Amino acid sequence: MYNKLALLALSLRAVRAQQVGTLTPETHPTLNTQTCTASGCTTVANKVVLDANWRWTHSTSGSTNCYTGNTWDATLCPDDATCAANCALDGADYEGTYGVSASGSSLKINFVTQSAQKNVGARTYLMANDNQYQMFNLLNKEFTFDVDVSKLGCGLNGALYFVAMSADGGKAAYPNNKAGAAYGTGYCDSQCPRDLKFINGQANVDGWTPDSNSANSGTGNHGSCCDEMDIWEANSISQALTPHPCTSTGQTLCQTTACGGTDSNDTRYDSVCDPDGCDFNPFRLGNQSFYGPGKTVNTNSVFTVVTQFITADGTSTGTLSAIRRLYVQNGKVIQQSNTDVSGIDTTNEITSNFCNQEKSAFGDNTGFQTKGGLAKMGKALQNMVLVMSIWDDYAANMLWLDSDYPTTSPASSPGVARGTCATSSGTPADVESSQSSDYVTYSNIKFGTLNSTYKAS
Ligand SMILES: *[C@@H]1O[C@H](CO)[C@@H](O)[C@H](O)[C@H]1NC(C)=O
Ligand SMILES: *[C@@H]1O[C@H](CO)[C@@H](O)[C@H](O)[C@H]1NC(C)=O
Ligand SMILES: *[C@@H]1O[C@H](CO)[C@@H](O)[C@H](O)[C@H]1NC(C)=O
Repeated sequence: MYNKLALLALSLRAVRAQQVGTLTPETHPTLNTQTCTASGCTTVANKVVLDANWRWTHSTSGSTNCYTGNTWDATLCPDDATCAANCALDGADYEGTYGVSASGSSLKINFVTQSAQKNVGARTYLMANDNQYQMFNLLNKEFTFDVDVSKLGCGLNGALYFVAMSADGGKAAYPNNKAGAAYGTGYCDSQCPRDLKFINGQANVDGWTPDSNSANSGTGNHGSCCDEMDIWEANSISQALTPHPCTSTGQTLCQTTACGGTDSNDTRYDSVCDPDGCDFNPFRLGNQSFYGPGKTVNTNSVFTVVTQFITADGTSTGTLSAIRRLYVQNGKVIQQSNTDVSGIDTTNEITSNFCNQEKSAFGDNTGFQTKGGLAKMGKALQNMVLVMSIWDDYAANMLWLDSDYPTTSPASSPGVARGTCATSSGTPADVESSQSSDYVTYSNIKFGTLNSTYKAS
């Protein structure tokens, strides 16, 4: 929800660019998924690619860093266009440098990886082939995966979500982008992030301000907006299911304060997107015994997460009317918990009525409704890219997910209590040292017609 990517990249060889570098071969890990109908599932050999922002970006002619720490090289990168021409994005050592490993139908992402440099977090995309992201139309379908959050503590977020990126990472639309999806370009989300080093075939050097609290990140004048469907933002303590619509269609560049979101603090709601979303966090919605270690959905062991996108007319082009969630653990189907909040009708699904009542009951910003609500989210869901990541939060210590937030309000105020983590938890400095061996595993991804991807046993 307050998705600021604390991407911590590499201090010595930091970054990303728009040309293609060849110093490290780019070999996309294979990840098997399944496509299902009522008559059964078939296996698909997908691949996974690391986002461009984590990659080493260096001179096309050699190996001079274009970006080091959180600063651009002034000679190679005097402005956005020159920098994109001078700099290449190189291949990734997935496991050794970034802690990303795939085996069969399972993808594991480690939080901190120490090689010659320290890497924190990672963001990956599912690919259809080596040059294209896998596109999904989620309407009238369900998306299912198994997750192991048992080693994801307070302050971390193992996020599996969809964003309206271009299938080729922007390569055709922006010919200066020679790298494309093969190198994980074209990211966008509902925070309209300004920490991206390259957007639309240009670097983001102009106006770049290194972050005061992160040695590897900064923000430039440009951001990259698009609709975002957060299927799963979670650690072992709390989790949320959150649609974030935008009024724009597809990936869209924004300028400075008009980017809103986490990177434009005082103009948070000024972008084309809804940075807050209409979140369904069982704890925040009144059931504190539903999700967590030893709870109804027991985060000490693996479980299955099923998310259904229901349309009003029961077709894959209809208006999105509800987002449903259920879980399967130890062979038992567990329905999403019911809300128990004054002012919200009892429900266990996201509908327009639920979102209206939640915003009102919690006194939250109504950007969800003004940016098009569930109906616009549904339109975007016809063309989405799957993201799997792990991150820590330099903006708000993930307290919006797993603690009392905002910390200035009493925990007893409606909507403030979101999880049992301490309000002092989740600082990046703390989690990157004390929880450096944390990880998340996503596995057994299945996509198909309603009720085809899971069963009780
Ligand atoms: C952003 O907003 C938070 C909360 O309102 C505040 O504590 C923080 O100082 C702000 N940061 C900037 C850079 O304005
Ligand atoms: C939480 O959800 C579980 C499962 O739906 C239910 O059995 C339990 O009664 C709920 N607890 C509260 C306090 O609402
Ligand atoms: C899916 O299962 C649920 C609950 O078992 C049922 O209510 C619903 O009608 C089913 N939907 C379809 C399309 O089979």
